[in-house]
Amino acid sequence: MSKSEDDLQADGKARSIRSFVRRSGRMTAGQQRALDELWPNYGTTFSMQPLDLAKLFGRDAKTIFEIGFGNGESLLQLASHYPNRNFLGVEVHEPGIGHCMIGASAAKLQNLRILCHDAIEVLEDQMLDESLTRVNLYFPDPWPKKRHHKRRIVQPSFLDLVSRKLQQGGTLHIATDWNNYAEYIDATVADSENFEVDVRRAHRGDQPLDRSATRFESRGLQQGHQIVDWRLVRR
Ligand SMILES: C[S@@+](CC[C@H](N)C(=O)[O-])C[C@H]1O[C@@H](n2cnc3c(N)ncnc32)[C@H](O)[C@@H]1O
Repeated sequence: MSKSEDDLQADGKARSIRSFVRRSGRMTAGQQRALDELWPNYGTTFSMQPLDLAKLFGRDAKTIFEIGFGNGESLLQLASHYPNRNFLGVEVHEPGIGHCMIGASAAKLQNLRILCHDAIEVLEDQMLDESLTRVNLYFPDPWPKKRHHKRRIVQPSFLDLVSRKLQQGGTLHIATDWNNYAEYIDATVADSENFEVDVRRAHRGDQPLDRSATRFESRGLQQGHQIVDWRLVRR
């Protein structure tokens, strides 16, 4: 795997508030093998240069960007379902990346690429404006303590950034199982001039919006949480 700890921090920028802490989850032998052997097929290393999506995927196609895909359930399902679209997943949790690549290889996916880096920096530094069709953000870390709310990835600046990277009419899909985060997202979107709510769906895991169930969603449901899904359209 041609990336390293430095990859996450050595981009010469002052560190800003991050939306993640890297979880210490155990890496299985299979995940490690996937990182070693499958990274050349699916992985691409962060750089400060804009990413040439046509070159990366070997074709021009609509591109869907997923932030924090975890183990990759939704990413794999959508990439299998839409072979004519390109999928770029960004995650910092290496066991999850290994897990996702095992699934991608088993399904022989050709339309999936992965970056191991802070998705905010990938959007800022590597995605050209108006280059994405859709951005997915499923079950972002809820940062429940009030003093940590500043670490929530959904902020006015995040909506500005995503809207710049989306094509006209592009969509941002979000789902959360935290009531307080859902209220926070509602308020942040209501204040945004960049997005309007196309669909907002509250459910118990039975009506996910254009996605499959994810690991963190199942965990939330086991704890009795309600799920909220949004599809936001760039104005
Ligand atoms: C609560 S987990 C949800 C994972 C998955 N989407 C699911 O629903 O099972 C949030 C994930 O987002 C990742 N994450 C948080 N902020 C990120 C960022 N700025 N860039 C990339 N990944 C991020 C974390 O590493 C974590 O795996």
